[in-house]
Amino acid sequence: MLPSVADGVSHALETLDLDAVRATYWEQDEFLVLERVLPDHLVTRFVAEVERVRPSVHRNYLPKHKKGGSVSFHTLAAEAPAILGLYRAPAFLDFVRAVTGRSVQPCPERDPHGCALYFYTEPSDHIGFHYDTSYYTGLRYTVLVGLIERSSSRLVCQLYRKDPTRAMVEHSLATDPGTVVLFNGDKLWHAITPLGEGEERVSLTLEYVTDSRMGRVGRLVSDMKDAVAYFGFRSVFARRAGRTR
Ligand SMILES: [Fe+2]
Repeated sequence: MLPSVADGVSHALETLDLDAVRATYWEQDEFLVLERVLPDHLVTRFVAEVERVRPSVHRNYLPKHKKGGSVSFHTLAAEAPAILGLYRAPAFLDFVRAVTGRSVQPCPERDPHGCALYFYTEPSDHIGFHYDTSYYTGLRYTVLVGLIERSSSRLVCQLYRKDPTRAMVEHSLATDPGTVVLFNGDKLWHAITPLGEGEERVSLTLEYVTDSRMGRVGRLVSDMKDAVAYFGFRSVFARRAGRTR
């Protein structure tokens, strides 16, 4: 019988040399890549859920910045128990805490980005360079998990961009299935290069925060960005109105 997602994650992370992983993360100014660290039996379950939610993909196009599709936390919470199992797996949370040295938590359930899928399925789908800026009071960490990688797109990351004492270093990565990338969203300047003809790339991102409070202005900016750039007004604001009514 297959282990639970939580047990599968725990076993996978046990194989890592945590001290070495933590040292690399900090040496790279809070950026880490673990290639194919999640086993095939977990990736297979996550990809089955990718196919289940594919009809719910919301596509966006912001000229010169991004083009692609996304599926929000709200849909995943209803239809993707294995993916949610990874997001909340105690061993995974412990791992993120141990590496970052912060007592992180999953995002509040109202945040559509907390755990979300990003689909690059049409030629030139991409996202331009950006930080995963936190609108929360505290810090926000991103975990990117490769799920489907049949593309020439690359996750391009520029390290030390805000550090005047170090030369910038650029990494260009294929996010293969099971590969995990962990970084501090306010520090890593990153992009996904345009998809080629007949290619496909699907990644999962998990966001963790140190303090889930958000000021009113921060929340408005965050909601507008989610509605315009990612999940649509109906998804972001109808849900909010339904909750506060
Ligand atoms: Fe990002």
